[in-house]
Amino acid sequence: MLILCIMDTALYYFSGTGNSLSVARTIKDQITDCEIFPIIGCLKQRPIKISAQRVGIIFPIHFMTIPRIVCEFLSEMNFQKPQYIFVIVTGANPKLGNALSLAVKYLQALGQTLNAGYFIPMVAAHFPYISLSKTKHPDQQYQEAHKKVLDISKKIRQLENGFDKEFAVFADIKQLVTKETKAKEKFFTIDDGCIRCGYCMQVCPFQNIRLHGKHIQRLDNCHSCFACLHFCSKSVIQYKKLSVGKPRHHHPSVSLNDISLQRNL
Ligand SMILES: Cc1cc2nc3c(=O)[nH]c(=O)nc-3n(C[C@H](O)[C@H](O)[C@H](O)COP(=O)(O)O)c2cc1C
Ligand code: SF4
Ligand code: SF4
Repeated sequence: MLILCIMDTALYYFSGTGNSLSVARTIKDQITDCEIFPIIGCLKQRPIKISAQRVGIIFPIHFMTIPRIVCEFLSEMNFQKPQYIFVIVTGANPKLGNALSLAVKYLQALGQTLNAGYFIPMVAAHFPYISLSKTKHPDQQYQEAHKKVLDISKKIRQLENGFDKEFAVFADIKQLVTKETKAKEKFFTIDDGCIRCGYCMQVCPFQNIRLHGKHIQRLDNCHSCFACLHFCSKSVIQYKKLSVGKPRHHHPSVSLNDISLQRNL
């Protein structure tokens, strides 16, 4: 037990609408000597040396797989002395996709073993994937998610091994339904009603949006986190028109500033 108390924990996260960041923060509050680090910021400080003994990587599913910025991070992690490595995936449905099995492969390539993999069902940020549950109010989903994160925190404290059953069914099937792996710039449009507030530019963790006088320019470095769409002050950013008339959301405990701060370590 003494060993557990002195063990330090590092959590690395990527988050577009705050779901994964909220998970990281809850775990940090539950574990002594635990710090959280943004994956985007870490990638600017290469080489990525991981000296903590207990290491967690927390991210959303994108297009049935691991977001490419997280893949980049996973392939460059330089572990010093890990005793326990876990991933936590947030999303709508992990059964379709390879988020877990791909994480296992990345770590194997680094000579490491993934000890545990957890899934947190969340209000989904992408259309036409489930946007809002028909049966559950978002507040209920957030509460249930929070409860599960508290349970997971206990397992992490006790260094439990194992993988959530939600991953099991089609764990190795990837890109089964969609060939789309990257949100294309041309699919994002801005309706009339934009007030040039600049929120979209501020929130983008990849600095992919610029305001030029009356024009909003999107560059070519979009990582499809959908933060711009969900934090737009007038809900005028659309994706393939699938988002027209749909509610926007971000995790209630996470602000625009929190998302943009991922750029820095
Ligand atoms: C571009 C994009 C693609 C997504 N694809 C999937 C998916 O294939 N399966 C799934 O379960 N959820 C999918 N989602 C939902 C997210 O995984 C979910 O909203 C996640 O909790 C967002 O976490 P974040 O707020 O930390 O970014 C997708 C979300 C986005 C933005
Ligand atoms: S956040 Fe929305 S309203 Fe504000 S500048 Fe961007 S697109 Fe326009
Ligand atoms: S442009 Fe929008 S969707 Fe693309 S990375 Fe920036 S905030 Fe995310």
